Order: sequence, then C-alpha cells, then structure tokens
Amino acid sequence: MSKVTTHQAEEDLRNDNILIYMNGDIRPKVEAMVSVYDSGFMLGDGVWEGLRLYDGKWAFLDEHIDRLFEAAKAIDLDIGMDRDGVIGALRATQKANGMTTDAHARLMITRGIKMRPFQHPALSRQGPTFVIIMEYSKPHIPRPITLATVPHQRGLPMTQDPKLNSHSKLNCILACIAAEKAGADEALMLDVHGFVNTTNACNFFIVKKGAIWTSTGDYCMNGITRQKVIDLCRADGIPVFERNFSLVDTYSADEAFLTGTFGAQTPVSSIDGRQIGTGQLGPITTRLRALYKDLVARS
Ligand SMILES: Cc1ncc(COP(=O)(O)O)c(C=O)c1O
Repeated sequence: MSKVTTHQAEEDLRNDNILIYMNGDIRPKVEAMVSVYDSGFMLGDGVWEGLRLYDGKWAFLDEHIDRLFEAAKAIDLDIGMDRDGVIGALRATQKANGMTTDAHARLMITRGIKMRPFQHPALSRQGPTFVIIMEYSKPHIPRPITLATVPHQRGLPMTQDPKLNSHSKLNCILACIAAEKAGADEALMLDVHGFVNTTNACNFFIVKKGAIWTSTGDYCMNGITRQKVIDLCRADGIPVFERNFSLVDTYSADEAFLTGTFGAQTPVSSIDGRQIGTGQLGPITTRLRALYKDLVARS
C-alpha cells in the first residue's frame, strides 16, 4: 500500500517562493534561517499553533490565539506582544504572500537565542524567536488512513502535558515511527491506563451504533477541531460521549475518524490490521464533514 500521511497536501510549486515572517521581518523562504543557538532548534523549547485560511478567514482564530497564549504562559515564555500583535503578524504574512484561501499557517515561538549551548532557560537572553510559515495548502489524503497501536503513551500532565503544543514532539514522532514500522500510516496512542486516546498528530473518534465516542480528553491535545465536532454532534442531535474505551470497543466500531485543523475529519480504514466498518468513508463521518464545512463557512 502506498504511503499516506495525515498532513498530505496537493503539490504546489508556489510554496518554493513563499515569504516567511521572522521577528517582525518578512523574508524569502531561502533566507529564513534561525540560529543554531535558538532554544527551539537546540532543545525543542517553544510552542506552536496551526491555523487554516478558508475564503479569506482564519478559521476559529480566537480559539487558536487563546491556546497559543495559554501554552506560552504554561512554559513561562513571554511572547513579547499581545493578541492583536500576533494577529497582526499573521495578517501581514498573509498579505505579503497574497494568500486568500486554502493556506496553512504554522506559528512558532521559541525562547529565543541562547548564550551557550545548555538547557537552563536563563541562557536564552535574546528572545523570543517568532516565526510564521504560511503555505498554499489543499489537503490531499488519497485514501482512508491505517493506524497501528504503539507502546508510546500519552502521559500524565506532570511530565510533559499532552495538552501542550510544544516544539518537542519526540514522543509523538517515536510513536509515528513505530506505527510506520508496523506498516501503518499513523500511530494510535493509548493513555496511561490503556484506554484508547489519540493519534500521534490528530484526535481520534469512533462511531458505534450511530453514537460518537472520543476519549475523556484528559491525555490528549485539546484539539479545536475535536471540540467543534463534539459541539456539532450536540447541536445536531448526534449522541456523543467523551469516555474511556478500549481497543476491543474500537476494533468493532462502525466507523473511525481523526480530527485536526489540517485535515478536518479524516476517515480510518483499519487499526492493527482489523478493518473498521467497510474500510471506507462512512455515513456519519460524511455527515460530520458536511456540518464542519458549513460551520467553517459560517464562523
Ligand atoms: C498531538 C495533536 N493532536 C491533535 C491535534 C489537532 O488539534 P487541532 O484540531 O486544534 O488542530 C494536534 C494539532 O496541533 C496535535 O498536535
């Protein structure tokens, strides 16, 4: 089976010449470099946020900016500007690139350049480093995704809280590598109790007898798309449960899908070699996709 990732987009040659925001400047991609002493490069010390542009509007902008400031506060990182400043930087990058729709922005803020190559945050004296990469991006995920469960867990909040969009994604990357080595596209990660939690890059849902189940939310990214799907189910009368469930419940689901800002709702065809439902995009996932598309257009 051909390799597929959950963040696959149509090839767009315009992305070779995009402009990147760096600390107030807008620079051509080839000139957009960070120092080897940058806290993000050296230690994964930073936070990020991913947003999508649809028809001239950044979807759920307030929620994304809230989460960015919440994450920065959690790691005691001063972004050095207020919400309007961050939104201004986003819009300036959009304007410079002349993008109007189907674009994806990754905002990255690190603790900045360190004096010496060691861990202590006090060594980061020139900071923060604030970068926005904005690409032309039309998701193109050619078939439903296959998942494999992996030994890597979504841990307890007191180690590295899985709610934090930290620059260091090593736990998730190791999970993804393990899944790929098992022949799947992405990893299905369990929580510390063995309940099904999330994938390495997206939130995870199953459909059983017309109801939607997702994890309690205790050990996964507080995904904005995840919350929108839950809200849409409630508004549309689709039973939805945030609950603990195991692989036994999961393998026998009628449908399974992933959520994330990039791919919206991505169907899952198999988990650990067990086909889920028909193995194709199912009717409830189709309905939720339509409801979500409508919500984006209205919001
Ligand atoms: C681990 C993980 N899960 C889920 C998500 C999806 O979150 P959202 O729907 O806010 O894009 C992300 C994206 O940041 C993520 O990194």
